[in-house]
Amino acid sequence: MEDQRGEDHLSSWVLGNSIVIQMSLRAAIELDIFNIIANAGFEAQLSAAEIVEKIPTTNPNAAITLDRILRLLSVNSLLSMSQRPCQSGDDATHQEMCYGLTQLTRHSATNKDGVSSASMVLLFSERMMVEPQYMLKNMVLEPECKPFYSNYGENFYKYAAKEPKFNKLFQEFMTHSSKLFLDEVLKVYRGFEEIKELLDVGGGMGTSLGNIISMYPHIHGKNFDLPNVISVAPSSQVWRMLAEICLNLYQEQKQFY
Ligand SMILES: C[S@@+](CC[C@H](N)C(=O)[O-])C[C@H]1O[C@@H](n2cnc3c(N)ncnc32)[C@H](O)[C@@H]1O
Repeated sequence: MEDQRGEDHLSSWVLGNSIVIQMSLRAAIELDIFNIIANAGFEAQLSAAEIVEKIPTTNPNAAITLDRILRLLSVNSLLSMSQRPCQSGDDATHQEMCYGLTQLTRHSATNKDGVSSASMVLLFSERMMVEPQYMLKNMVLEPECKPFYSNYGENFYKYAAKEPKFNKLFQEFMTHSSKLFLDEVLKVYRGFEEIKELLDVGGGMGTSLGNIISMYPHIHGKNFDLPNVISVAPSSQVWRMLAEICLNLYQEQKQFY
């Protein structure tokens, strides 16, 4: 019983660290680590020193610091880890750790369609997204609590409209997640076969609609979203036409906003 309590006590220390795991994952994405490992091959494992060779830095301690980040990710199953004799220097008795992708991080590397789950990690660890979460407890305690509004004075979408960098990050996340999820849905769902016209309300950059139409070209699709979103949507002829429809609808149907 005493032993179990001691073990539980040690395990509970991980709770205070969980935010460090998220921020290490973010750092790994910002440093392009998952793409560097993926580019070395499907089952490749690289040492921190090998990865640092591909990162633009002159910091002589980069590999040491990176190794600590990679080790933290690997003990949390976000990277695989193995040991091998050190490949640099003369001391062949010295061991070094090597790191590879796991099932959890394979999708953080960009796939052949330019899609990855990295944008999700970047968005949800963005300062603007983290700040309102300090008010989670207030949502329990106060009846009208709106954390995002309290922090920024407007709702999420109005805020995104005014902050192009944040909007780009959000749209990237939506585009990538639509692609990843809808691809799977379209493999099994047949409900679009009978549809002739499809209006995607809140369709973002039109990724979902574009995917559906490319599989069912007989569908006449309309993408409807806020003007700031449509104005940065892909500018192929079709999308330009859809954007115009949306802008017209926006003018005519202001009650939507
Ligand atoms: C969660 S995102 C979904 C994006 C898209 N369906 C996709 O899968 O990529 C919600 C979308 O609704 C849009 N939106 C929010 N308020 C809206 C409004 N009042 N009228 C039209 N679109 C709106 C946002 O700009 C955003 O693109």
